[in-house]
Amino acid sequence: MYNDLKGKTVIVTGASRGIGLAIAKKFIEEGANVYDLDVISPTESIRELQYIRCDVSSLDDVKNAFDKIYSENKAVDVLINNAGVESFGTVTETELSEWNRILGINLTGSFLTSKYALKTMKNAGGVIEFISSIQAIIIQKRLAAYVTSKHALIGLMKSIALDYAPKVRSVAICPGSVRTPLLEWTAVQEVGNDKVKIDEKIREWGRLYPMQRVAEPDEVADLAVFLASERARYITGICIPFDGGLSIVLYESVPEK
Ligand SMILES: NC(=O)c1ccc[n+]([C@@H]2O[C@H](COP(=O)([O-])OP(=O)(O)OC[C@H]3O[C@@H](n4cnc5c(N)ncnc54)[C@H](O)[C@@H]3O)[C@@H](O)[C@H]2O)c1
Repeated sequence: MYNDLKGKTVIVTGASRGIGLAIAKKFIEEGANVYDLDVISPTESIRELQYIRCDVSSLDDVKNAFDKIYSENKAVDVLINNAGVESFGTVTETELSEWNRILGINLTGSFLTSKYALKTMKNAGGVIEFISSIQAIIIQKRLAAYVTSKHALIGLMKSIALDYAPKVRSVAICPGSVRTPLLEWTAVQEVGNDKVKIDEKIREWGRLYPMQRVAEPDEVADLAVFLASERARYITGICIPFDGGLSIVLYESVPEK
C-alpha cells in the first residue's frame, strides 16, 4: 500500500479489460477514485470503477468525459494513457484510413486526455503515465503504424515531463508481451481460435524472454501504481522497458568452445 494515493482522482483509459483493468483495480485497492474511459463496458463488475463511455480519439468524447470528471472532482491527480489498438502492415500495406485510426487512438487519444488533465495538473501537480510498448525500443516487422505510434508516445511523454516540471511527472512503461485479450487476438491471427494452440503460441513467445514467460497484467499494474506514488517522486521523463530482459538480448551466438 502507498498511503498517498488514497482519495486521489485517477483516470485510466481503456480500463474495461486487459492491462488497463488491472491498473484500475490496483488503484482502487489503494483507495483512489478511479475512472475508466473506454469504448466498451467493463468486462468485470467492480462497484468502485466509474465507467464513462469515451472514444479517446474523439475530441467531443474526451471533452464530455472530463467535463463530468471535473464536475465531480476539483482536479485530476493521475492519468494513465493505456487505451491502444494494434494492426499489422508495412507502410505500403497500410491504408491512410488505418494509419489514421491507429495514430488517432494510440497517439492523439493520449494527447487529448493529457491536454484536459493538465488543465488542473499544471498548477495542482500530478502524474501522467503512458503505456507505450517495447516496440518503442525494438520492433517487429509489419507493424509500421503501431510501432510509429508507440515511439511517438515517448516524445509526448518527454515533452510533458519537460514542459510541466516540477509540478507534473510524466513516464512511459514499455511492456513486452503481456497476457491480455490483445495478445490473445495476436495469437489467434497466427493459429486460429483453438484455445490449446493459443496457449502454446503464447508460451512459445514467452520462451524468447530471459524470464521465460510473458508478463501478467497485474505485474504492469504494480509498476504503474508505484510510478504514480510518492516513492517515485524523482522519476520523470523516462521510458521503462518492462520486458523480462528481452531488449538486452541479441539472438546471434558466438562460436562454442
Ligand atoms: N498486451 C500486450 O502484450 C502489450 C504489450 C505492449 C504494450 N501494450 C499496450 O498496452 C495497452 C493495453 O493493451 P491490452 O493488451 O490491455 O489491450 P486490450 O485490447 O486487451 O485492452 C485495450 C482496451 O482499450 C480500449 N480501447 C480501444 N480503443 C479505444 C478507444 N478508441 N477509446 C477508448 N478505449 C479504447 C479497448 O476497448 C480495451 O478495453 C495498449 O496501449 C497496448 O498497445 C500491450
